[in-house]
Amino acid sequence: MSSPVVLGIESSCDETGAGLVRDGQLLGHALASSMDEHARFGGVVPEIAARAHVHAVRPVIRQALDMAGLRLSDVGAVAVTTGPGLSGALQVGLAGAKTIAYALGVPLYGVHHLAGHVAADTLEHGLLPDPCMVLIVSGGHTSLLLVRDLARDPIVHLGDTLDDAAGECFDKVARVFGLPYPGGPAIDRAARTGDPRAVPFPRPLTGSSDHAYDFSFSGLKTAAARWAEGHTGRELPVADGAASLQEAIADVLTRKAVAACVEHGVGTLVVVGGVAANSRVRSLAEERCQKAGITLRVPPLKLCTDNGAMIAAVGDLLVRSGAEPAPLDVSIDPSAPLEYAALRPAASPAASLAGVA
Ligand code: KG4
Ligand code: ZN
Repeated sequence: MSSPVVLGIESSCDETGAGLVRDGQLLGHALASSMDEHARFGGVVPEIAARAHVHAVRPVIRQALDMAGLRLSDVGAVAVTTGPGLSGALQVGLAGAKTIAYALGVPLYGVHHLAGHVAADTLEHGLLPDPCMVLIVSGGHTSLLLVRDLARDPIVHLGDTLDDAAGECFDKVARVFGLPYPGGPAIDRAARTGDPRAVPFPRPLTGSSDHAYDFSFSGLKTAAARWAEGHTGRELPVADGAASLQEAIADVLTRKAVAACVEHGVGTLVVVGGVAANSRVRSLAEERCQKAGITLRVPPLKLCTDNGAMIAAVGDLLVRSGAEPAPLDVSIDPSAPLEYAALRPAASPAASLAGVA
């Protein structure tokens, strides 16, 4: 018997995503973004994001179903991001997911957003090898993880950021450089015509044995801001600044990730999250993994940034591993630590949706 079609819903930040996955196959997905509505504020405004999700969630699910040639009644399980993220935004997705799961009488799974980023890669490259090293680099998180069975095993953190995330550094420095929001893609574009050796930006925590796999990007952000201030009254060579910043971030990320693979004898590195879309992060990871004999896996660009397919992918893995569904009263956890792919705050299993159905 084939496994059920899993509907995944993502609404933790400014993208409303829906995806449909069965047996590791992506059947359809759709995305709406409120990014343009936040641009003039230079960052995501939580209330605007939450309202946009309310408007987008139904059409996005409809579009994903249309793309897959399926009807809502074909959905056999629902997975939704329950954290981490903006609380109002998460609430909208969870309310939608509960409604559908309850109405259809199908199980509901609360999913950790970052596990979604990891699972995104399985839609393109198949199941992850056990173990694998995962470098997760997004707007809010930067971590180096040792992952075994994503659906079953605890996720081991080898290192995390001590302050800013890599994406945050891109976004904040872009603002100082006068580039548009979101900053990561803007820096990536500006860097194309710049010299990555033009500015000797620091490589934070690369010499520290205490923090071999931790990251710190706030000093780099400050260094970039000081460099920009040093040009007051003169034209800022933005392309050189962008290329040099991008080089520093890509250097630190890939150096630590490859060193972690070598030390732990892990043969596969998976780079995921919004910053995995960065052209230099991708090319330097490729170069260094090849030299070290490590297999590199990076999801296709459209699956790197937030989307619903990645949440459906986690749901599909959970369903296939026989994981217990979430209870109907499951709530959001805006600052959920990444310990397991499924987020199941303590609740009585008797109240589970599967039981209700
Ligand atoms: O994973 P994501 O879509 O959302 C979070 O969960 O945070 O990541 C968004 C982050 C933003 O900081 C954005 O600037 C960054 O990913 N990003 C990039 C690129 N595309 C997106 N950073 C560098 N280069 C890119 N091409
Ligand atoms: Zn994300």
